[in-house]
Amino acid sequence: MGLKFDFNNMFSANIGPAGVSDTDIAEITQDVKKADQHFKAVLAKEENRVNLGLEWTQLPFQDKQILSIIQKLGKQISEKFENVLFLGIGGSYLGLKAAQDALAAPYYNEFKPLRKGFASVYFEGNNLDPDTLSVLLKNLNPKRTFIVVISKSGETTETKAALMVTEQWLKQAVGQKYGRQILAITDPESGSLRKRVEFEHKKDPLSFRSLPLLKGVGGRFSELNMGLLHLAIIGVDIEKVFAGAKDMFSRCSQAELFNNPAYLYAVLHTILYRKKAKSLALLMPFSETLKSTADWYIQLLAESLGKKYHRKITVDAQGLESWLNDKDNIFVMGRTPISARGTNDLHSIQQNNVEGEDNKVITFIRVEKFNNEIKVPGENDLLAGRKYSDLIMLAQEATEWALANVNRPSCSIIMPEVNAYSWGALLFFFEMATAFEGELLNVNAYNQPGVEGYKNYMYYRLGKPGVAASVAEAIKNKPLVKNPKFIL
Ligand code: PA5
Repeated sequence: MGLKFDFNNMFSANIGPAGVSDTDIAEITQDVKKADQHFKAVLAKEENRVNLGLEWTQLPFQDKQILSIIQKLGKQISEKFENVLFLGIGGSYLGLKAAQDALAAPYYNEFKPLRKGFASVYFEGNNLDPDTLSVLLKNLNPKRTFIVVISKSGETTETKAALMVTEQWLKQAVGQKYGRQILAITDPESGSLRKRVEFEHKKDPLSFRSLPLLKGVGGRFSELNMGLLHLAIIGVDIEKVFAGAKDMFSRCSQAELFNNPAYLYAVLHTILYRKKAKSLALLMPFSETLKSTADWYIQLLAESLGKKYHRKITVDAQGLESWLNDKDNIFVMGRTPISARGTNDLHSIQQNNVEGEDNKVITFIRVEKFNNEIKVPGENDLLAGRKYSDLIMLAQEATEWALANVNRPSCSIIMPEVNAYSWGALLFFFEMATAFEGELLNVNAYNQPGVEGYKNYMYYRLGKPGVAASVAEAIKNKPLVKNPKFIL
């Protein structure tokens, strides 16, 4: 059973002038047609997909043989080692964490029977906090731990530092052959991690084994590529995830707006943003296990659509496109994503949602069937005899009502249950919706130049060779000012 999408509370029929009207839809129809045609034209040409970063659309259609190799490798690692430690950040981490929380049992790492023979899985290299990494390494047995390092560029500071630390930790315990306990997922050709893999392979083919990232797939769109080994290690059936994604791809390829959930999601959010000043996008699953999926979505939306420039498209005689920043066409926009979870955050952010600044659109994820059920015991109490699943669904309905009652927009994604199929579909829905919104807004959804600022500053201060003169100049000309007057 597929996902359902309920957009009723985005429309003026339900929430008055704050909502989207028929006129709003009529006004955007031409843009939707144009965006649909351009999106499909890019997808139709492999070279465009690869060069522009849209090859992620093909991930659910990967060869079954490759899948079975990865599934087998994951099983072997899981059977041989007690723990697997994944190192990576951003798109090289968030999808994996989302998958683990959604698809493995809650408390998976804490209780052996829940792992059903698969390894415990930890994540590091997603911060520079010395506390978490040192505590973890003090408590894991290096001889029983396998490390998977994920970095497309191979240059990311957090991941690189964590690899250097964990390598030394492994080497001290395991000896010279420690590299046999490391696998790298990185670019097939370029970057320092790829070079390292090749260097280590020459010395020992079992050391630093690797899996390639596919060309034209950016980090935040790559869970169905770089996350596959992780899915295999925790025992998820990858084909079911792909089946969900494939079905969603076909639903989200319909040209007709009201048949295409991704298009409608993008269109309604764009109208509410541009015409009704709803600049915050709150994703609120009513499920503890989907909170990390909401965190994954934050990166997807923020890095894809928070952009300074519109896109300038040029097309050559062969139909190959190039996208450049249109420096004459400033955008400086992008909805700000926030993740929350029901019912937990009803006792925090919900106050602001209902009475605070009226600048938000809330997307609920409503789960209709849970893997476990609890009935509240007792008698003579309004809670006695109630099922938890009924209570959480009622809380979601109540939250939806509380917002609609004050004419504030929301929509709901209804998941029949959280499983490999529906989670694959959910991920792909958000990717398609984000990509289409990029088309509507005419921005490049596949780069993240704004992230470079902090990296450049750190590289400059760390003395990295090759930092561009313009970066050094900018830092010298506009250093951080620390006036003691304002430091209390
Ligand atoms: O979406 C992206 O491409 C980025 O957020 C990257 O995933 C993130 O910066 C990590 O990069 P890398 O995989 O090169 O270490």
